[in-house]
Amino acid sequence: MKDVKLRASLEKYYITLDRANRYSFFGKRKGEIERLLEEFSEFFGEKILDVCCGGGALGMLVHEKVKRYVGVDANGEMIRNARDVARKLGAKNCSFFLCDVRKFAMREKFDTIACLGNSLCHLDVFDWIEVVKNVNEVSEKNAHFIIEYRDVVNLLFEKKWKDVTVFEENGKLWVDVSKEMDTKSGKIWKFAFSPQEQRSWMEFFHAVWSPFILRSVMRLLGWRLVGEKKVEEWDGYVEVYEKL
Ligand SMILES: C[S@@+](CC[C@H](N)C(=O)[O-])C[C@H]1O[C@@H](n2cnc3c(N)ncnc32)[C@H](O)[C@@H]1O
Repeated sequence: MKDVKLRASLEKYYITLDRANRYSFFGKRKGEIERLLEEFSEFFGEKILDVCCGGGALGMLVHEKVKRYVGVDANGEMIRNARDVARKLGAKNCSFFLCDVRKFAMREKFDTIACLGNSLCHLDVFDWIEVVKNVNEVSEKNAHFIIEYRDVVNLLFEKKWKDVTVFEENGKLWVDVSKEMDTKSGKIWKFAFSPQEQRSWMEFFHAVWSPFILRSVMRLLGWRLVGEKKVEEWDGYVEVYEKL
């Protein structure tokens, strides 16, 4: 998929289905990331790379304590919001790049990598291998990689995965349907539409992750698990890996 298409589909998804504001520093993410930072403080260093940074809430929270923070995201709206907020806060050591995380390259090296907020739902296992290969080029030995994601395999087994949901977003009703599971790539294909709006049809996927999948991929790509926390609230995990 070309970057323009990826950007357009991510922007459409976040503007219509999952309020982009939620991921801004002034949205709900601030408190959530503050708690994560407190709990996992020992793993955060001085040079942070945030893959799928969204509105860059992590950067805004750490910029006074770290030397450098770089956020990468393919969603132009999110990057614009992140840059605006960073300017307002005078966070000069923060930079944001509009880029597909499967394709980025940089000269800088980082001691901490973050991929927070279940961004993994947009990346299947093959995409993730590309992401980690890129991260390997820009991370130091013993760097930490902090990843937050949902355990979809468990959700399916426990029959907690909802095939059809109806919800309200931006004052409109939306129907979100899981169409099929592609077990070759590990994706649940979904579509959503608003019965109140013509041409609102949207297709997207939710990648299937579980600790046994992520852990084996990370180990093969040179990262060992050094910290974990199960998060019942959203049926997921926060995991910390160290670069070997
Ligand atoms: C759920 S949001 C999380 C944002 C942020 N990490 C947080 O915790 O608040 C997921 C983000 O992943 C980004 N994303 C998804 N696929 C991407 C890709 N291939 N390249 C770059 N960013 C991507 C989306 O644009 C979105 O901003």
